[in-house]
Amino acid sequence: MRKMTRTLTILVAGVCIASCVSFAQSAGQATYKAKCQSCHGSSGTPNEGIAKTLGVKPVSDPEVQKHSEAEMIKVTAEGKGKMPAYTGKLTEAQIKEVVSYFRSLK
Ligand code: HEC
Repeated sequence: MRKMTRTLTILVAGVCIASCVSFAQSAGQATYKAKCQSCHGSSGTPNEGIAKTLGVKPVSDPEVQKHSEAEMIKVTAEGKGKMPAYTGKLTEAQIKEVVSYFRSLK
């Protein structure tokens, strides 16, 4: 029984280490889920209502795809139309991370 508890403790610790590492790697994903997902959708495709009322396009849309990473960083920092500006809410590094995550969704 004691042995089993120890094995279990090691297992749980292992899972924590694994998820902590992946958390650091996906900082952009965490920011996206907290700040962007409500409008842009969890997979980069907004739900129909949002797409219609706010004019959010899916990340796979050619119109979105033709934007360079630098342009997307600018839109995220300064806002555009109904898209809020994130300067002051996110650091420059966070904006970069979240844009690169957004671009990876397509
Ligand atoms: C309140 C809703 C809302 C939130 C929250 C939001 N966006 Fe947007 N986003 C928009 C809208 C609306 C547009 C389209 C703006 C336009 O073209 O007029 C847009 C456009 C963009 C674009 C330009 C590409 C395109 O679709 O034309 C990028 C890049 C972008 N958003 C990234 C983000 C990121 C990154 C976050 C989170 C930090 C975020 N957005 C949060 C509404 C939102």
